[in-house]
Amino acid sequence: MDGNGRWAASRGLSVAEGHREGARALRRTVEAAIDLDVRSLAVYAFSTENWARPPDEVESILDLLEETIERELPDLAHQGVRTRFFGRRDRIPQALREKMATLEAETAPNDRLHLWIAFDYGGRAELVEAARSLVEDGIRPEDVSEETLAARLSAPKLPDPDLVIRTSGEQRLSNFLLWQSAYAEFVFAETYWPDFGEDELRAALEEYTRRGRRFGAR
Ligand code: FPP
Repeated sequence: MDGNGRWAASRGLSVAEGHREGARALRRTVEAAIDLDVRSLAVYAFSTENWARPPDEVESILDLLEETIERELPDLAHQGVRTRFFGRRDRIPQALREKMATLEAETAPNDRLHLWIAFDYGGRAELVEAARSLVEDGIRPEDVSEETLAARLSAPKLPDPDLVIRTSGEQRLSNFLLWQSAYAEFVFAETYWPDFGEDELRAALEEYTRRGRRFGAR
C-alpha cells in the first residue's frame, strides 16, 4: 500500500494523514474486491524495516491498525471477510496483539473474502525464521523440501498470489512475499495508495487476464 507519504506531501498534509487516507483506501479496496469476486487479498501494511521510521509515524500506523481492527474490519466481517495477520507479533503492544487474535477468531467462519494483513512482515525474515525452525526441530537435510519449508512460513495457509499490485509507480518487490510470489504476475500502478479503489483494482485484474501464465512450462 505504497504512496501514502507522497500523497500527503502533495497536499501539504502530514504523513499520518496520508496513512489515515490509506486506511480508507483499504476498506474501499476490500469492498471492491468482494464485488469483483476476489477470494483472497493480501496487503502489506508494515514491514520489518518500517520500524526505522520516525517514532511518531510508527505510532500513527500502530494506532491506525488498532482503529481499523475496532471500526473497519468488523463492518467488513459482516460482509463475509475473514481477516488474518501475518508477520512478527512480538514487537507490537500486547493489547494490539490481543485485538488481532480476537478479530481472527471472530472472523474465522467467514469465507467470502480472505483478507491477509502483513504487519511487521519481511520476506527475508520469514525465510530465516522458517530455516531456523527446521533446524530447531532437527529436520534431516533429506527431509527439507519446498513443502516442509512452506509449512513453516509466517502464514502457511496464505495462497501464493496470482497477481501482485504495487502502487505509487515504484517497480520493486520490497521484501514482500518473496517465496510466495515466485510465479506471480506483477502490475505496477502509478496511483498513490490513498487514491486506489475499484477502478484501479478492476484495471489491474483486466491487465492480469491478458497475461499468459506458463509456470516455467511451454
Ligand atoms: C507505505 O507508504 C505505507 C505504509 C508504510 C503504511 C501503510 C498503512 C496503511 C495503509 C494504514 C492502514 C492499514 C493498516 C492495516 C494499519 P509510504 O508511507 O512509504 O509512502 P511514500 O513512499 O509515498 O512515503
